[in-house]
Amino acid sequence: MGETRRLCARDDLAPGSARRFEVDGHCIALVRIADDFYAIGDTCSHADFSLSEGDVWTDEREIECPKHGSTFSLTTGEPQTLPATQPVPVYEVVVDGDDVKVVVP
Ligand code: FES
Repeated sequence: MGETRRLCARDDLAPGSARRFEVDGHCIALVRIADDFYAIGDTCSHADFSLSEGDVWTDEREIECPKHGSTFSLTTGEPQTLPATQPVPVYEVVVDGDDVKVVVP
């Protein structure tokens, strides 16, 4: 059981966008698609680039690395396209009223 940490308010993040947070040593990309929130590791598994600076693919529920274009599933953290081959971590998101929180291990 991890610790639940507040990241932001729901409306701090526009639908279809992503933002990076650092929580307890974890770099987390928080992504909003419509009213759903996803949290995955922000550092691309291919090299040291921030996934939250990439494009959000809303229909696919993926985010595209801004450096070399690998896309990562927001639900599994698995890369869907090369060159990345390793997954990034996935964090549980808790929406509590107006607050968006993640569980960090
Ligand atoms: S750094 Fe992300 S795909 Fe290369």
